[in-house]
Amino acid sequence: MRALVVVGARPNFMKVAPVLAALRGAGWEALLLHTGQHYDAAMSDAFFADLSIPPPDFHLGVGSASHASQTARIMEAFEPVLLATRPDWLVVVGDVNSTLACALVAAKLKEETGCRTAHVEAGLRSHDWRMPEEVNRVLTDRLSDLLLTPGPDALPNLLAEGIPANRVAFVGNVMIDTLFAQLSRARAADVPGRLGVERGRYALVTLHRPSNVDDPAALENVLEALAAVAEEMPVVFPVHPRTRRRAEAAGLHAHLARLCVLEPLGYRDMLSLTDGAAVVLTDSGGLQEETTALGVPCVTLRERTERPVTITHGTNRLAPFPLTPSGVYGAFREALAAGRAEPGSRCPAGWDGRAAERIVHAMESASTPGRPPRRLTVADFVS
Ligand code: UD1
Repeated sequence: MRALVVVGARPNFMKVAPVLAALRGAGWEALLLHTGQHYDAAMSDAFFADLSIPPPDFHLGVGSASHASQTARIMEAFEPVLLATRPDWLVVVGDVNSTLACALVAAKLKEETGCRTAHVEAGLRSHDWRMPEEVNRVLTDRLSDLLLTPGPDALPNLLAEGIPANRVAFVGNVMIDTLFAQLSRARAADVPGRLGVERGRYALVTLHRPSNVDDPAALENVLEALAAVAEEMPVVFPVHPRTRRRAEAAGLHAHLARLCVLEPLGYRDMLSLTDGAAVVLTDSGGLQEETTALGVPCVTLRERTERPVTITHGTNRLAPFPLTPSGVYGAFREALAAGRAEPGSRCPAGWDGRAAERIVHAMESASTPGRPPRRLTVADFVS
């Protein structure tokens, strides 16, 4: 069996690493394609190195552009690769533009190629159609043949959209496979120590959503809140290139100067910092899950989350919306008071380091002629 696995942007790499290894371990021919949506060494190469991902078999080199241009460029460049490689399965992960673009090409060519699409991290919904990722999530799920869900909240979302249950397999959270596999090396890297901050006594921040950084007033609000946090403890802030550009354009350098600002970090260094933080403040999707797995309190700087299980089971909370300096600071204080939980103790079902194994199993079972994919349940995860 041949699979063509797609990556494009930073949050894809840690999801694909265990899937690629599990497919190859099970005897699949697994080809890797990088769209080039993210291209800076810190946003891409560092993850390949940290996660020992082999160099991609194909690199489309599309780079940055408007949503429409980026999506269209990926589609145009991806079509000939799909036609030339004719895999049995296309594997797409997450909710970035690369995910949707490749799933759409495969759906258009399905009659011709027979290639089916498996979507890893299917069924998450913020119900906020203004988020580009929500558009990508809904459309990718509609286009895919096998929907591999990470947690218990995904299946009801898919059923509500009329997707038949036999296209869905609950496999668990593959990003957590990578987290547990890398945790001891991340701790040994001791990034807090190298930065001179004390484990459990600093806040860690990430910020890159257009809703927080593209509007200067919104960005200023969040940076003011961070300045209040910085009065109490060091605030470590690896800055996404988009955020740095926006802050510079809005003349907000002075706000950044009060924080411990870093370039974007590789996977292991970021995990080392997350694991050691007193509180994480973020608008990332992945960090909401990583903090839940690690038992670190998290404040999500968004109106809604597509990962509500991190609030109901985990260590996450939403800052009051619209974001204000006092609202964000208040949420930080609450998170700090809640304190850390034992790593692994707040993990939802299927966040156990074995999701990639179950993904391969679900793909194999869906590949057997005449046999519908077996519905996996939580019972499958009890070892
Ligand atoms: C993308 C994803 C988002 C994910 C985020 C993680 C979509 C719609 N969004 O957002 O879901 O959380 O990645 O980072 O796919 N840039 C660089 N170097 C790079 C990549 C980007 O400088 O290697 C800058 C460029 O100015 C670019 C901007 O960042 O225009 C935005 O990049 P883009 O890939 O469009 O979206 P992200 O904001 O990174």
